[in-house]
Amino acid sequence: MVKENSVILGIETSCDETAAAVVRAGETMLSNAVYSQIAAHQPYGGVVPEVASREHLHAIVPVVRQALSDAKQTYDSIDAIAVTQGPGLAGALLVGISYAKALAFALDKPLIAVNHLEGHIHAVLLEERQKGNHDLEFPVLALVVSGGHTHLYLATQSGQSWSYENIGRTRDDAAGEAFDKVAKLLALGYPGGPMVDKLSAHGDPKAFKFAGSQLKHPDRNEKSRSDNGRPRFDFSYSGMKTAILRHVDTHNLKPSIEARREALLGVAKPKLEDYLARCDRPTLDLIASFQRSLVEDLVGKTLAAAEAYDVRTLFVTGGVAANNELRQRFEQDGSRAGLKVMFPSRPLSTDNAAMIAAAAYPKFLVKDFAGMDFSAEAGLVLR
Ligand code: KG4
Ligand code: ZN
Repeated sequence: MVKENSVILGIETSCDETAAAVVRAGETMLSNAVYSQIAAHQPYGGVVPEVASREHLHAIVPVVRQALSDAKQTYDSIDAIAVTQGPGLAGALLVGISYAKALAFALDKPLIAVNHLEGHIHAVLLEERQKGNHDLEFPVLALVVSGGHTHLYLATQSGQSWSYENIGRTRDDAAGEAFDKVAKLLALGYPGGPMVDKLSAHGDPKAFKFAGSQLKHPDRNEKSRSDNGRPRFDFSYSGMKTAILRHVDTHNLKPSIEARREALLGVAKPKLEDYLARCDRPTLDLIASFQRSLVEDLVGKTLAAAEAYDVRTLFVTGGVAANNELRQRFEQDGSRAGLKVMFPSRPLSTDNAAMIAAAAYPKFLVKDFAGMDFSAEAGLVLR
């Protein structure tokens, strides 16, 4: 029997966060436990897949126990187990999947496989429902913008079933990847998005222009229509990254970058003040100008897509949706364009398992359960 107020335990291990959460009826978050592996990857300046898998193995049991006890639930009281199937790092996904399968088998409870990107979209839905907002105008345009993804989806709901049409993706780097790579180049720590966000407020965003014209990519505009003839709004951020690299060379910023790197090696957890004390004016202006250029590109293309598809509701979700300037720009320009713009709260913008449990609920209602033979899919596509 499918209970309407069922409680789902969600498990998420697609990248560098080991997460578990309990959500009731897709709309009430009872707990949200996240163990971040950032400290383990920091020395390498990026996520090391092997390290991620090992960290998930250490963390998965305590994180799930934490989520259950925070939610005042037990293994017996939950109604189903949901887990991220992909996209993500195969070895990392397998830890969550194997654990979820073992739990489902031992407890004799249904297992639900969830696409990580659908999870990011349902993070917004979960919180909107939690606020009592059950009315949405379809289709919804969803920008999923994170360390691994920059996608535009048209999302529609028919009965309990959701479907997604991809109308834009990055041709090269994801937006969060661009934030992280530029931050690494400028010795601003890892992951760099949050620090670029904070430092940008201290620089002049108009000092330099890394405009769309610098986003060169050979096939950038070649395919502005998909196979079904519908317009596409693809992104490209590798050109912007190269432009910053060139700027560093031509403005002779390398010595100050190396000095910052050396000085901060001795600081355990550098804070905004530590970086501010070691960033001169041209560097702060460069950081703010980079962020402005990237945000303008993301907002411009997304709003153009909303207009082309005559959409009224926009979701902006994924790690980069935590960015302050991005939120402000979407709120200002979106409302000017007559759009209702919705973001998840910051804790639900970055990877978490509440979004996985929420996305699993419609599947639970129609008994769309996974068999014990399903496996991780690193390149899982959202449809
Ligand atoms: O969604 P997420 O936790 O993991 C992926 O699915 O990739 O996103 C992580 C990404 C990282 O690239 C991180 O630098 C970026 O989100 N990020 C931000 C901010 N907070 C996190 N980027 C810009 N501004 C932020 N405030
Ligand atoms: Zn994510």
